[in-house]
Amino acid sequence: MDKTGRLGGEKITVDDLLQGRSPSLDLDCLYGLGPSDPQDARFYESDEVRLRMGITSADSGMAPLQGFDLARRASSTGEPGTALIPDHRNDENLAVAQLHLAFIRFHNRVVGELTGQGNPSVTIFDEARKQVVMHYQWMLRRDYLPRIVDPNIVEDVFTNGRKFFDVPVCASNSTTSRVGGVQPGDTPTMPIEFSVAAFRLGHSMVRAGYQWNSIFNNDDPPGDPRRFRPATLQDLFDFSGTSGSLTEIQPLPSVWIADFRRLFDLVRDGGAGPDLAPPAGGLNFARRIDTRLGNPLGELAPGSSAAEPGQPFDRITANLAFRNLMRADMVTLASGQQAAEHLEVGALSPEQILAGDNGVDLNAPAGKRNPDSAFTDEERERLVTHTPLWFYILRESEFNRGQLNGEKLDADGSPASEAVLSLRFSTGPWKGATTPSSETRPGGRNWVARRGTANSAWLTCCSTRSTVKRPC
Ligand code: HEM
Repeated sequence: MDKTGRLGGEKITVDDLLQGRSPSLDLDCLYGLGPSDPQDARFYESDEVRLRMGITSADSGMAPLQGFDLARRASSTGEPGTALIPDHRNDENLAVAQLHLAFIRFHNRVVGELTGQGNPSVTIFDEARKQVVMHYQWMLRRDYLPRIVDPNIVEDVFTNGRKFFDVPVCASNSTTSRVGGVQPGDTPTMPIEFSVAAFRLGHSMVRAGYQWNSIFNNDDPPGDPRRFRPATLQDLFDFSGTSGSLTEIQPLPSVWIADFRRLFDLVRDGGAGPDLAPPAGGLNFARRIDTRLGNPLGELAPGSSAAEPGQPFDRITANLAFRNLMRADMVTLASGQQAAEHLEVGALSPEQILAGDNGVDLNAPAGKRNPDSAFTDEERERLVTHTPLWFYILRESEFNRGQLNGEKLDADGSPASEAVLSLRFSTGPWKGATTPSSETRPGGRNWVARRGTANSAWLTCCSTRSTVKRPC
């Protein structure tokens, strides 16, 4: 979310969007500025190496469990939320919060291993952070991206480099002129085409409900006598510190701890043993990337809006699709057609934009179930010539079986080779220098699943937000 917190239609400049988070995939949301920074030391244990974790509260016969909630403050102290993490947005909902916690646990585990191997204590934090970041980048590069983008395009971009966007390097490190007029020493940023449109494709992947753990699922027959029902998306917001009411005094109830066996396919794709197989009820899968959103995203609660206090919050601003389109208008974002022209790729045809492929049908007659199709001819004409980039990318994905796989189908159904807009925009924040270059997992350890992120929509929520103002 940009730092302005404005919801209305007022224009925002790119400078307004600059904020304090890093645009690199360096897990700065996990580490902040490190344990020696006076502001961020509070996220660390007193050993200044391990990250802090919190304890859950007893519930329905389950004991409190240390290390299964984020560390929290007693109450909000003027800062949003209560979680003691560098980016409070990662505690906006329970799915991302538990994933953030998994990264904390992973870091602490790596610290334990390094300590056990007798490494000098002064090197342990830096070495652990390096290993964790490399694993994170490795997962995104080898697992996440090839799932949502044609693997050939991923390979091409990583092999031949970016053509349309680049991040600046420090003036002292390079004299080379960079892509798109970016100069050494410029402020590193994330392209707004990525944050305001392309990567919001994740909104289409979010489910309305989740088989969350042994209690919140709809297994048949029931595995646990306390089994209740699947978790709703609203539950996941309620059990958070930013959208909900969790505090140090009222932490996450133990019954809400995530069962990651249901969220990631650790056995089939990760090569893990049978004890990590998804229990009865199975895996949650992300929804197809298309122009449809789950119903709950049409009615966001004020707490999940990231709005400034006092901002008007009516029915339409509670609709995430509207918010995405409004945000694009506020920053005067390029349309899908303008982006295609800039990237020198063919554009979707007007008919493809209107009819789609099993997505929202904008040709359908207006009615109760299709209120969005009540366009005038003039509006329809504008829509097919100035298609909002976010919608355009989702449409593009519809014609590629829910993946940004670089093949746009022609009107007659035959595949036409196309570059994919999203990846070209989305690789800006990648820090190739720290990406493991071989297939070998960094450190040679089986820390993570090799492939297979059944529900990987959440994976990149941790650190792919907005632009940055930070010296390189
Ligand atoms: C329940 C799930 C989610 C909810 C309720 C949600 C909600 C929101 C909201 C309210 C905004 C700000 C809208 C505005 O501009 O006014 C936003 C921005 C954004 N969302 Fe989501 N989101 C969810 C999941 C995801 C996922 C899964 C992804 C990607 C995989 C994603 C990517 C983004 C991005 C890139 C932005 C822009 C951030 C920025 O500019 O800093 N979101 N989301």
